[in-house]
Amino acid sequence: MPIADHTLLLLFEGYGWLPDQRRRASGEVVHTRVAGQRAVGLCGPDAARFFYDEDHVERRTALPGPVKSTLFGHGAVHTLDGPDHRVRKAMFMSLMTDEGIADLVGRTTTAWDEAVASWADGRRVVLFDEAARVITRAVCRWAGIPLDDTDVPAAASDLVALVDGFGTAGPRHWRARRARARREAWLGGLVRDVRGGAATAPPDSALDVVARHRDTDGELLDPRVAAVELLNIVRPTVAVSWFVAFAAHALHRWPRHRAPLREGDEVFAEAFVHEVRRFYPFAPLVGGRAVGDLSWRGERIPAGALVLLDVYGQNHDPRLWEDPYAFDPGRFIGREIGEFDLIPQGGGDPRTGHRCPGEAITVALLKALVARLARLDYDVPGQDLSISLRRIPARPASGFVMASVRPAV
Ligand code: HEM
Repeated sequence: MPIADHTLLLLFEGYGWLPDQRRRASGEVVHTRVAGQRAVGLCGPDAARFFYDEDHVERRTALPGPVKSTLFGHGAVHTLDGPDHRVRKAMFMSLMTDEGIADLVGRTTTAWDEAVASWADGRRVVLFDEAARVITRAVCRWAGIPLDDTDVPAAASDLVALVDGFGTAGPRHWRARRARARREAWLGGLVRDVRGGAATAPPDSALDVVARHRDTDGELLDPRVAAVELLNIVRPTVAVSWFVAFAAHALHRWPRHRAPLREGDEVFAEAFVHEVRRFYPFAPLVGGRAVGDLSWRGERIPAGALVLLDVYGQNHDPRLWEDPYAFDPGRFIGREIGEFDLIPQGGGDPRTGHRCPGEAITVALLKALVARLARLDYDVPGQDLSISLRRIPARPASGFVMASVRPAV
C-alpha cells in the first residue's frame, strides 16, 4: 500500500499529527512520507537514545529549507554532524557558564522590574509581547550586541517572528524570512566591524566568542554564518517568552501554584518550570536522517529515511508521565530527570549531541521571571486564552493580557 504524503497534515494537524499516526499504526514505529520523502516517527526514551546516536541519525541534509530560512538559518550548528558539529557546539557551550547565566538572569530581572514599574499606571499589557521586549533588551546587552532602547521593540518583534513563522506556509512564514534577512544583515555587519576594529565586543561576550570562533578548517566563520549563530543565541532566548506566557496561563488556570512561588520555594519553582516545559506545546518534533539501513524494535528504517522523534508525544506519554494531561509540578519533586525522558529541548548530552545548549538559561530565566510574575496581582480581562494544537508554535491566542498590574499585597 502506498504511504500517503503527510506534509500538509503535519502543517494543519500540528502537535497531534505524530501521536495520531502512532495510535493508528500497528507497531511502535510510524511509517509515513514528509515532503515526498520516506519518514519514520519514533517516541519514548529508548527511541530518543536511538535517535541521538550519531551512528544512526545525521542532521546535515535533514532540515527542510523553509525551516532553515526562518528558524535556524543556513549553515547553523543544527545542520552539522561529527567533528564539525562538535567544534561549533563547543562555541555555544563555552558561553553557558554559571556566572554567564547569572549575569543574563540579572540583566533580565532588572529589565523586567523596569517594565513592571512602567505598567503602574494601570494600563493593559500583553505579557507575551512585554516578556519578548524585556528579554531582547537583556540578551542583546549580555551578548555584547549594541541595541538602543528605542530599537528594542522592532528587534523583539523580528526575533519572535523567526520562531513564529517556521511551522506554517502562510504570511507568518514570509514575515519570518524578511526578519531573518534584516537581522542577518545587521549582525553580519557587526561581526565585520568587530573584526575590522570599527566596533568593539566586550571580552568573552557572545559577540566576541562568535566573531573569533574558528571551525574545524581553522577559518573564521563567514560573517553571514556568524550572524546566523548569534541569532541562534538571542532568538531562542527571546523564545522563552512563549514559556512565560504559558506559565501565566498555568497560574491563571491553577492558582494554587502561586503561593509556593510567592514564598520563594526554590524546589517548587524548579518543578513548576519543568512542568511548564513538559506540559505546554512548543517544539513538536526533532528530525534527522538514517545514516544507513537501521532497525528499531524489529522494524526496518531504510538508509536516507527521515527519522522524526515525537517531542510533544513523548512529553505526554502515559508510560512515562502519570496522568500526562494534568498540570502537576509535584511530579518533578524528588524525581531524577533522565537524559532521554524530559525532552522539550531535545535529549542526550548537549556537548556531544544536538540537545539544546540553552536549557540551563531557559530554566534559570523562567524560574526568575515566574517568581516575579507570581508576586504580582493583576486582573485578567476577558480574552481568548485558548491554545490551538493546530498552530505551530502554539501559544495562548491573546498572548495573555493583564490589567491593573500591582505588587501583591
Ligand atoms: C537546539 C528547544 C532555548 C540554543 C534546540 C532543540 C530544541 C530546542 C527542541 C533541538 C534539539 C535537537 O535537534 O535534537 C528550545 C526551547 C527553548 C530553547 C523550547 C526555550 C524557549 C534555547 C536557548 C539557547 C538555545 C536559550 C541559547 C542561548 C539552541 C541551539 C541549538 C538548540 C544553538 C542547536 C544545538 C545543536 O544542534 O547542537 N533547542 N531551545 N536554545 N537550541 Fe534551544
